[in-house]
Amino acid sequence: MPHLKRVGLIGCGAIGTYIATLLKDKFKKQARLAFVCDIQTEKARALGRVVSLKTLVAKSDFIIEAAHADVVSTLVPLALKKNKSILVMSVGGLLNVTHLAALLAKSKGTVYIPSGAIAGIDALCAAMQDGLQSVTLTTRKPVQGLQGAPILKEKGIDLASIKSETVLFEGTAREAVKAFPQNVNVAAVLSLATLGPEHVRVKVITSPEFKKNSHEIMAEGKCGKIRTLVENEPSETNPKTSALAQYSVAATLEKIFSKIKIGT
Ligand SMILES: NC(=O)c1ccc[n+]([C@@H]2O[C@H](COP(=O)([O-])OP(=O)(O)OC[C@H]3O[C@@H](n4cnc5c(N)ncnc54)[C@H](O)[C@@H]3O)[C@@H](O)[C@H]2O)c1
Repeated sequence: MPHLKRVGLIGCGAIGTYIATLLKDKFKKQARLAFVCDIQTEKARALGRVVSLKTLVAKSDFIIEAAHADVVSTLVPLALKKNKSILVMSVGGLLNVTHLAALLAKSKGTVYIPSGAIAGIDALCAAMQDGLQSVTLTTRKPVQGLQGAPILKEKGIDLASIKSETVLFEGTAREAVKAFPQNVNVAAVLSLATLGPEHVRVKVITSPEFKKNSHEIMAEGKCGKIRTLVENEPSETNPKTSALAQYSVAATLEKIFSKIKIGT
């Protein structure tokens, strides 16, 4: 992508800060971080030139979202209407973008969705060519990584009272994203890549014994069975975020810039 020059970054937390470093070092020949935006202005100021969301979209050649699912439903339509390409990390928010297919059809922009903290999206996309009958995700998270999830308040669950392995949730990917908007972006990624948010099944389990975020995918289709398991180390700056999710942004940017593209 030779025209990729000015990058606009929304969200200057763990992933955003990592992206800023990537743009300064690894991808300095292809892109530069031109504009940043964050509801916590001081965080944005630490990374670059702070502008409003609207200005960022208007002036950037490529936009990266690493903020919050809430911002995605306004940001993605805004970017696509301006024919801008956008990489989205808060993928759960994409499930709330109405008429996404129509917006994409009219736009010259592209939406990039990194695999995030899961493995197997390459094989699942290939398997989808001949149809998949079932796709399930089992996510295991340490208790402290689930703090603030809306489902806890809704169901009156006190995380401190959990003393053994507990299934907190079972349902569709769409329901999972609503219940854990900051924890199961991977369910959204998986559902968009395969059977859709109403048909991918998700289970969320926690335990005081769990020290890492793990994601296990099981899928079955005409081409066979696919099973993947990732036991993630947390990001150094945000225990809710897996280090692999950060690296998946680096790998996606590498694929965009590279002349050799590996994987489906
Ligand atoms: N796709 C995946 O696999 C995956 C994995 C991990 C995290 N994520 C998602 O990526 C996003 C960033 O993760 P992180 O670990 O960097 O989080 P973080 O909390 O470290 O940083 C998020 C930053 O975004 C800012 N922010 C929040 N709402 C905003 C808004 N409306 N407008 C502008 N800025 C806003 C916050 O102030 C914060 O600085 C989160 O939504 C997270 O759920 C996705």
